[in-house]
Amino acid sequence: DKGTYPFYMLKEIDEQPIVIRHLIEKYLDNEGGVHVGQAILNDLKAADRLYIVAAGTSYHAGLVGKRLFEQWAGVPTEVHLSSEFAYEQPLLSEKPFFIFLTQSGETADSREVLQNVNAQGFKSLTLTNVEKSTLWREATYALPLLAGPEIAVASTKAYVAQVALQAILAYAIADRATLGFDLEQDLSKIAVGIQGIVDDKETLQQVANQYLVESRNAFFIGRGVDSTVSLEAALKLKEISYVQAEGFAAGELKHGTLALIEDGTPVIALITQAKTAGLVRGNLAETQARGSRAYTIVTQSLAKEGDDFILPDVNELLSPLLSVVPTQLLAYYTSLGRGLDVDRPRNLAKSVTVQ
Ligand code: M6R
Repeated sequence: DKGTYPFYMLKEIDEQPIVIRHLIEKYLDNEGGVHVGQAILNDLKAADRLYIVAAGTSYHAGLVGKRLFEQWAGVPTEVHLSSEFAYEQPLLSEKPFFIFLTQSGETADSREVLQNVNAQGFKSLTLTNVEKSTLWREATYALPLLAGPEIAVASTKAYVAQVALQAILAYAIADRATLGFDLEQDLSKIAVGIQGIVDDKETLQQVANQYLVESRNAFFIGRGVDSTVSLEAALKLKEISYVQAEGFAAGELKHGTLALIEDGTPVIALITQAKTAGLVRGNLAETQARGSRAYTIVTQSLAKEGDDFILPDVNELLSPLLSVVPTQLLAYYTSLGRGLDVDRPRNLAKSVTVQ
């Protein structure tokens, strides 16, 4: 039931702080413990390489997961589109372990891969929002995303839950002493941060009306983990507002896409990574010199005068949990401003059960 909300998508965006709190309650305690089951941890630790397999938004969550598993836990991790992996299996390491990310647990492409993986005798873990779904049942292990039913075709809270649960798993197998932070505290801060963003939704409605509703196209740029959020931001905007959008690594602009920048083209930059903040600003300035209308989404400590949307500072690798939220709201309000059916975009189904 969407209650007083005009669309499920807005309700689901608003639920994201609660989703994070549910994950904390179920999987973490305040003594640094992680409760996901010892067998899963043993298999994750025994693996010499992780293979994350997913589609669409879940794939984008996997791109963040790769950074978490590699940078926190030191485990080499590959992320694959299930529709590609199913028919072109890459060379596997000696001790692979598979992680399937799927909101619905029914995505046919992902299921095809899981069946192949099972036939080869490899172990797997499905992270899904739907308990007892096909990918839940067919994997060696499964953990719930606890996001609650996601009805809107555009996935929002499932992404946040997938990123957070991957963070929990990476944290569980990492060497805590060298990590030097408490995930429970960091995720709690993030829940508060998301609440602050959703409380500021009118700002993003104005931005959508001003920058995107009348626009033919739009670009999202960032580096590192911000480049992956850019992909997700562009997918969301395309999916529900039909604005042609592209998201990519900011450094790639000058290798081709810059040619598309015209007077008034919206370019939205995500800046949450200290190491590359200056470079992204440089890339953005190059678009402005060609007439783009720039908009910045920046974390507090990296913010400069003239920046537009400021996010609270959090653990850098967890910043997608915050930075994705304004982009979800921009997509939502662009769709709304264009008078479209936000929850049921044309040509799409919530769960993709054909290959
Ligand atoms: O249920 P799944 O997570 O396996 O679905 C994967 C994609 O079909 C899904 O994320 C899709 O990209 C969304 N509609 C995007 O908002």
